[in-house]
Amino acid sequence: MKTIIEPFRIKSVEPLRRTTPEQRERLLVEAGYNLFQLHASDILLDLLTDSGTSAMSTGQWAAMMRGDESYAGSDSFYRLKAVVDDLTGFRHVIPTHQGRAAERILFSTMCKPGHVVPSNTHFDTTRANIEFNGAEAVDLPLPEAADTQARIPFKGNMDVAALQRLIENAGAARIPLVMITVTNNSGGGQPVSMANIEAVRAVTKRAGIPLYIDACRFAENAWFIRRDESGYGEMSPKQIAQKMFSLADGCTFSAKKDAFANIGGMLCTNDDRLAELETNLLILTEGFPTYGGLAGRDLDAIAVGLEEVLQPEYLEYRIASTAYLGRHIADHGVPIVEPPGGHAIYIDAGRMLPHIPREQFPGQALAVELYRHAGVRSVEIGSLMFGDKAHFELLRLAIPRRVYTQSHIDYLVEAILEVNERKDRIRGFRIESEPPMLRHFTARFKPVL
Ligand code: F0G
Repeated sequence: MKTIIEPFRIKSVEPLRRTTPEQRERLLVEAGYNLFQLHASDILLDLLTDSGTSAMSTGQWAAMMRGDESYAGSDSFYRLKAVVDDLTGFRHVIPTHQGRAAERILFSTMCKPGHVVPSNTHFDTTRANIEFNGAEAVDLPLPEAADTQARIPFKGNMDVAALQRLIENAGAARIPLVMITVTNNSGGGQPVSMANIEAVRAVTKRAGIPLYIDACRFAENAWFIRRDESGYGEMSPKQIAQKMFSLADGCTFSAKKDAFANIGGMLCTNDDRLAELETNLLILTEGFPTYGGLAGRDLDAIAVGLEEVLQPEYLEYRIASTAYLGRHIADHGVPIVEPPGGHAIYIDAGRMLPHIPREQFPGQALAVELYRHAGVRSVEIGSLMFGDKAHFELLRLAIPRRVYTQSHIDYLVEAILEVNERKDRIRGFRIESEPPMLRHFTARFKPVL
């Protein structure tokens, strides 16, 4: 059979909640045209993020009942640790309540003012945590990735030559670590090849700089390697993931993505001295090192999720269903970041709405229009989120894992194509009020008339 189907059936359902266009217009005004400020009950399809929004399996719910809530030395922790040991091989596994808690602990132990932390592309929380510690976050994407329309595989790779130049210019002593984000979320959800991780490893090893993986979507990345990189077609996603982790000195991880968990994260490292500093900090804000801000049952859900996410039939369905959305809109004239990535489709709003200058946030304008038209929530990834560090003006349609079916996606395709037909009438926005940091969450906007 050629048809790729959802590799699950549905046992428990949540009703969708509908609103009328008139209600949505009023809700948008009340929210200051900021979709983060809407109530979730006013959204039909919520594609704001793939983070923490997965449907858990019967296996995960059953595992939660086994959760051991002991303060110290919980069985749940040791079950999680066994899975992570097998997958990553890292010496220290430090649970945290989510990915950014791992980032905060990692960067506050490793970074000082004057330091520089390169990445293929930093995610917003990664960048913010580095900058909060006075260091500089530098993105080194491939030059070819500047063209959103270029259909090249592994467009999420790091520019290794640029990394080498940065190390020569800044000096290795100012670079406490190099990060590589798989898949490259801010760069369009594009994967990173094993060859690229190996090349980055070779450069960092020579310079004596530790390499950390931001592993949020490690399993999706492993599937792309298996599908598109020569020499990996016969390896299992797990074997590929093991090899990816074996090239690094540690990782940060948000279990809210490729572990199907609603909350959770991890910081892993091979450095004993660092692990000690990190666990001391962990106790201050997250908790004892065998629970790190999570309930025992959460640790069990993550342990099961980490195994389920590597099943080939799941990953084949996951990557094919994201591509289904991408092809159906791109082949009808909507410019997306090509080729389709793993967890989301990114519309190149700058290209789709050339009449809206970047100071008027084309991605935000498109997000508002898609909500107004069809009740779909998406997120701007551009000048609003990243200010002058933005590489593109994108609208991200993130696909929660195992949550929506093909007919939901067909509805979405119809909505996007209808919005595309009258794109010339979409207007930009000006910021009316904004906070000093992470303005995309709370800024209020006014439409430009
Ligand atoms: N790194 C990457 C690449 C991410 O995508 C995220 C979160 C984090 C780190 C932080 O993890 O949310 O558990 O603290 N990304 C979500 C998103 C929020 O919508 O892309 P967290």
